[in-house]
Amino acid sequence: MRYGRFDDGAHEYVVERPDVPVSWTNYLGTKDFCTVVAHHGGGYSYYKSAQTGRITRFRQNGVPLDRPGKYVYLRDDDANDFWSVSWQPVGKPFLTEPGAAVPEDGSAGRWTSAHGTGYTRFESSYRGIDASQTVFVPLEDDLEVWDVRLTNTTSSPRSLTVTGYVEFSFHTITVDNQNLQMSLYSQGASYEDGVIEVDAYYEPWTFHYFTSAAPGGADPDSFDAMRDSFVGSYRDERNPLAVSVGQGSASQGTTQNHCGALMHRITLAPGESARLTYLLGYGSRQDSGLPMRAKYSDPAVVDREYAALVDYWRKKQARLRVSTPHAGMNSMLNTWTLLQAETCVVWSRFASFVEVGGRTGLGYRDTAQDCMSVIHSNPSKSRQRIVELLRAQTEAGYGLHLFDPADFDPDAPKLPDIPSPTIVPRGDRSSLIHGLEDTCSDDHLWLVPTICEYVKETGDVGFLSQEFTYAEGSSGTVWEHLERALDFTSQQVGANGVALGLRADWNDGINLGGGETALVTFLHAWAIRAYLELAAPLGRTDAVERYEAELARLADVADKELWDGRWWRRGITRDGVLIGSDQNTEGRIFLEHQAWPVIGGITTRERGIASMDAVHELLASEYGNHLNWPAFTQVDDTVGFLTRVYPGIKENAAIFSHPNAWPIIAEALLGRGEQAMAFYDSILPSRQNDNIEVREAEPYAYVQFIYGRDHERFGLAQNPWLTGSSGWMYTAATKYILGVRPGLDGLVIDPAIPKDWDGFEVRREWRGAVYDITVRNPEHVEHGVGRITVDGVELASGTTAVPVAEPGTTVTVEVTLG
Ligand code: GLC
Repeated sequence: MRYGRFDDGAHEYVVERPDVPVSWTNYLGTKDFCTVVAHHGGGYSYYKSAQTGRITRFRQNGVPLDRPGKYVYLRDDDANDFWSVSWQPVGKPFLTEPGAAVPEDGSAGRWTSAHGTGYTRFESSYRGIDASQTVFVPLEDDLEVWDVRLTNTTSSPRSLTVTGYVEFSFHTITVDNQNLQMSLYSQGASYEDGVIEVDAYYEPWTFHYFTSAAPGGADPDSFDAMRDSFVGSYRDERNPLAVSVGQGSASQGTTQNHCGALMHRITLAPGESARLTYLLGYGSRQDSGLPMRAKYSDPAVVDREYAALVDYWRKKQARLRVSTPHAGMNSMLNTWTLLQAETCVVWSRFASFVEVGGRTGLGYRDTAQDCMSVIHSNPSKSRQRIVELLRAQTEAGYGLHLFDPADFDPDAPKLPDIPSPTIVPRGDRSSLIHGLEDTCSDDHLWLVPTICEYVKETGDVGFLSQEFTYAEGSSGTVWEHLERALDFTSQQVGANGVALGLRADWNDGINLGGGETALVTFLHAWAIRAYLELAAPLGRTDAVERYEAELARLADVADKELWDGRWWRRGITRDGVLIGSDQNTEGRIFLEHQAWPVIGGITTRERGIASMDAVHELLASEYGNHLNWPAFTQVDDTVGFLTRVYPGIKENAAIFSHPNAWPIIAEALLGRGEQAMAFYDSILPSRQNDNIEVREAEPYAYVQFIYGRDHERFGLAQNPWLTGSSGWMYTAATKYILGVRPGLDGLVIDPAIPKDWDGFEVRREWRGAVYDITVRNPEHVEHGVGRITVDGVELASGTTAVPVAEPGTTVTVEVTLG
């Protein structure tokens, strides 16, 4: 069953039926103000941190689903009937027949919503009133705008009451959820000059506001700032008292729960339209609310800010635009996967509808991987994240698994310290640095290739010689940081020469503590190879020999200890038992490490192909590759926590999306374009657009995992948006299937595609120049570049790297495969 469609021209996903089984979300905001919003209007906002900068509330796991939100109620004051522009929370019946006329008696209406890049728009038609509400976060101002437009399509004049409504939260979400006796009594809300301001009394620098701009500059006709007065006892957002009667009660005051409810009476002549703006913002009434109300009272300003936001995304999309014979790939790469990957880099992991702000900070491995994919579209944010990771690397070389970048940033603004009535545990720097017992064996390794990608994308080789502090406070150049990361893993080696497992590796559920992990040995090889790709040409000659020797050692260990005959073993427990071997009865084969010997270049083509064939044979499904097989049913703590997880769920034999990208890369490097595409396609969200009764989740976003075949809900997709799969899928598809990837001295073009493709086009901006690339496949091969011309001049035979072009120029690159 389908609920919507991709509109590639507008870079939107249009939800055509509102009763989607679960909320389909979008992320708004590019800088400090973030909104997570569902297709039905539910969602919440925060400033900088979903945990400590919370602005509006969200009832996690609530019934009914996903409230409250960004609601505009429309009330027909003659008929005493009301509805919501976004369908929820009032939830009036809706028409399902395409093109059916909306009855004027209020028995049904029509709703759609569209998620776009940086905005979400709700559209409704009910009782002859066409309405739209576009929610967006402008590029520079710390606020969310709701652009509301109404048209009377009937032949009679209409009297409406329009109510914009948000429920404020206490700003620290853990206190809001766990310590009501504090949050209820330490926040207030007041109304003045058309602005509702919420203040945290004990923290006189924390303010949020809600305001509106109506035609003719009119102030609201009524308002409520106290939630319970607006909603009324024994009611909820579906039928709030103030909307039922068409009049707010002018409630305001200190303590209790607060809301922003601003009600405007509007009369529309037949055919007449009106436009109102609501603003939800960070800051005080005086400093922010009133100036922003004045600014956004001018509809031309609303239009200008919206246009600037759209343009911001169009420019990012233009950095890499693809046109292939695969419509789903085009939709996903040109809009959604890029947006999702950027979202992970900008907002990290802890703000969604399943993670509602209870945690904060950056995960070391997730952040290091995420920012690898968007260096071309967001170099400044990627660099910022890389620097944050460097500063959270210990002198020993490992990374702090979860950290708050502000703790290691000498320039982070410090808020005033207030005397607290209770004891708040505070740590000095040293207590933030965990020891080996909490170290994951992989975290630091991801940073090495990420920094190498950063240099290859930007050409900024000088970055490698810049100095940054380690977590303890001493400093070293980026080169030294990279070498310490590589050396840490060289030192953490078990009895068989394989990397020690430590607390976990990429797989949080593999907790080998004392055992050995093949995955990390393979990642180590990949990281060394990435380092050597720069170190050798950039003259770090002393180190090169040492790392080449280590790479050779790793290849030898892999060959002797880790090849199982048909695939790569996963590791060895501290008791010497093999994991991920044909000898096992459960967990005989794992997915997440099979690709790395190929990507890290430490195996033969033969073994690479054998291991990929095993993945196709034993792990593949119509929804993607399973993480392991068979699922564990027996608890084994020497393997790890995943043996305590239901079969088919998360790390125990679900289709975990993130490592699904890696075999795509391996297949492409092996030159098997058909197989690479089969892997890419099987888990591609857009392929499930008409299978929502099974998938449930958004068909435009990757999810963390999909229920595996051992579970009766096989195919159900969970935890959308904040997953490393978005960045990795973007990388796998653009750099390896389409094969356009920056090197140190040239733009490599080495596609691995399905045979039936006649070709494809890519527009790539790189180091200030534009590369208009056309790939032709006259002989219908899956791999192999026959000829490349640049502005008509043929490159030497065997060269796949297009030389760096002058900034500001556009070069035409024609590639013939075969
Ligand atoms: C989650 C974590 C990630 C981990 C993965 C596999 O996605 O965020 O760090 O690698 O699970 O366990």
